[in-house]
Amino acid sequence: MTSKRFDGAVAVVTGAGNGLGRASAERLSAEGASVVVVDVNGESAERVSAGLAGPSIAVQADISTEEGVQRYIDAAAAEFGRIDLHHLNAGIFGSFAALPDLSVDDFERVMAVNVRGQFLGLRAAFRRFREQGGTGSIVVTASIASLTGSADLLPYVTSKHAVAGLIHGAAMYGGPLGIRVNGVAPGIVPTDLFAAAATTSGGKNDMEQRASTTPLRRAGTAEEIAAVAAFLLSDDAAYLTGQIVSADGGATIVNTVRPSGGAGAWNTDRVDEALYGANWKDSAR
Ligand SMILES: NC(=O)c1ccc[n+]([C@@H]2O[C@H](COP(=O)([O-])OP(=O)(O)OC[C@H]3O[C@@H](n4cnc5c(N)ncnc54)[C@H](O)[C@@H]3O)[C@@H](O)[C@H]2O)c1
Repeated sequence: MTSKRFDGAVAVVTGAGNGLGRASAERLSAEGASVVVVDVNGESAERVSAGLAGPSIAVQADISTEEGVQRYIDAAAAEFGRIDLHHLNAGIFGSFAALPDLSVDDFERVMAVNVRGQFLGLRAAFRRFREQGGTGSIVVTASIASLTGSADLLPYVTSKHAVAGLIHGAAMYGGPLGIRVNGVAPGIVPTDLFAAAATTSGGKNDMEQRASTTPLRRAGTAEEIAAVAAFLLSDDAAYLTGQIVSADGGATIVNTVRPSGGAGAWNTDRVDEALYGANWKDSAR
């Protein structure tokens, strides 16, 4: 049998009952890791865990609470004896309400999960590494919203910018200890994250159209994000820390003030025809 990148390693993935976390759990498992599938929805955690290729347990836990984070750390240690890899992925979108209409409750809920939850996850990971007397690797799911702004989703954008701060600070602290902390910043990947906002502008309804404005002209898949997270967790990324790697079809490199821009150019056919000539699609792919 050929060796796999995560043979013998134990990985925790939060928000793994669905979407990107699920794909990450599947990828890490397929590459040899024992996986702790954490989700606030215990049933979906069980379902994902049961379908994995290798050893796995499911833990129902709300990562925005100290108790929830301690629960999955304890469960992982009890089952597998150690934790080597953490993919701190769980996150929520919050409201699409315009700035004057946002409620404090909405703001605080998004910050509680996306910022406090990731802080608690990082702190628990570092405590665990100290207890184990060893090193490990951490990936946090950031977002295109960690790097750029938008007029809607203000709590989400704020929280994901804070996630960048957590990644940078934790990477600085962890470097001398041999603990790497990186982020993966997805662009648009159709998951249930957008489901609640299906009919909102910027929600699921126009997701494909928005994704078509990126350089790669399409949405990403959960598997494509999981591949980047797995790379960052692996020794293949041994000299990377404190980095936030965009996996967004190139969305963050777009210069929106050029007519050839992409993002914001809703009629990409017109832009593409001007750039590549009429009928360019016939010869391009
Ligand atoms: N899908 C995208 O396009 C996209 C883009 C950028 C960033 N992200 C980020 O990726 C991460 C995963 O999002 P997704 O698209 O897979 O969403 P999703 O809604 O499909 O899955 C998120 C999972 O996290 C779980 N979860 C939510 N709150 C939790 C909590 N407090 N404790 C434990 N589990 C909790 C949910 O039950 C769900 O199973 C999030 O951090 C999100 O901000 C997603």
